Amino acid sequence: MNIPTWPQAGEREAELLRIVLESGHWGGFHPFVTEFERSFAAYQQASHAISAFNGTVTLELALEVLGIQPGDEIIVPAISFVTTATAVSRARAIPVFVDIEHASYNIDPERVRQALTPKTRAVIAVHFGGTMCNIGEISKICLENNLFLIEDAAHAQGSEWNGRRAGSFGIAGSFSFQNGKVLCSGEGGMLVTSDSAFAERARALANCGRIPGRSFYEHHYLGSNFRLTAFQAAVLLAQLERLPGQIRQRTANACLLKNVLSDCEEIVWQAQPPQITQNSFYLMTGRLRGPAAARDAFLHALAAAGVPCKPFYPHTLYNNPVYRNAPCRVMPCPVSEQSILDAFWLPHRALLADEATTLEIAEAIGAAATTEILSCRPGS
Ligand SMILES: Cc1ncc(COP(=O)(O)O)c(C=O)c1O
Repeated sequence: MNIPTWPQAGEREAELLRIVLESGHWGGFHPFVTEFERSFAAYQQASHAISAFNGTVTLELALEVLGIQPGDEIIVPAISFVTTATAVSRARAIPVFVDIEHASYNIDPERVRQALTPKTRAVIAVHFGGTMCNIGEISKICLENNLFLIEDAAHAQGSEWNGRRAGSFGIAGSFSFQNGKVLCSGEGGMLVTSDSAFAERARALANCGRIPGRSFYEHHYLGSNFRLTAFQAAVLLAQLERLPGQIRQRTANACLLKNVLSDCEEIVWQAQPPQITQNSFYLMTGRLRGPAAARDAFLHALAAAGVPCKPFYPHTLYNNPVYRNAPCRVMPCPVSEQSILDAFWLPHRALLADEATTLEIAEAIGAAATTEILSCRPGS
């Protein structure tokens, strides 16, 4: 099948990389880094953006700027990439794992309410696969309970809730530009915020404690060096120019796939609530109705047909080996437990295929869902 590879680069990346190469300034003080920070902040509708070398240190930085203390409780979804939780643990705070919603795979606001204690200081809300969580409700909970809201928007460059972009709801939004992300530079990350004091402190901590405009060897805070390189910024500037068109194409193809598969009752796709005014599909997630073994048989059939569908995360975060020893609190998470067994995702590169290939993908998914599920039914 003619499915595009990822990452993609063109003449624009080469042109900007050449400018950096010939400039003699390859590090984080090249003007491209500031230019990308400004462009990305504007794109995500935030006032400030602070770049860093990945989307893990940006989470750790956000917690440090907010003054999270050992023993503070931070509510996180039980389903995410591990660093959503380990950022909390590395601050010696306690991740409190709560369940996700069945339809959206995102943190369930009701479960967040049930997990609150006097020690709760913050919620980290993940926009899973690029589909925004119920950020309206989560913002309300944080406001009512005087909690910091951090958005882990690693998957959600360009996603919107009621016309407002991911990362612009909380005190901070954290993004990843790792190799597989829809905006990527191999590695890279960004914190966005519209709080000037937060931005000032984050920028200083990420740049060895320096304060802009002061002498290079004057260090005011116990910071570190998290700077993005000029090469990464060059690639990201070029990728950002291409992103809006790619989001349109992925959205159109996701819509086509769902339409063609609308009679396939074996698959339930991730819900898209009406408040989502733009979905930057990082993953197209679904679950398979049927017996437990069906999902893996379904994925084998798709792999044989050349469709790069993948199983969901293999663990809830609290069942990852790291949390056998690291302190945490676990709320009941039946939906998360179910999702690791029956859910799957299609990576975003598959949504950049041409129309004929998209129809082939739909046909393969439809065929695998029916034949494989039937063959896994007990007694068949
Ligand atoms: C939800 C989520 N948060 C954080 C990260 C960490 O980003 P990075 O790989 O840039 O450190 C990832 C990376 O995949 C992620 O998926």
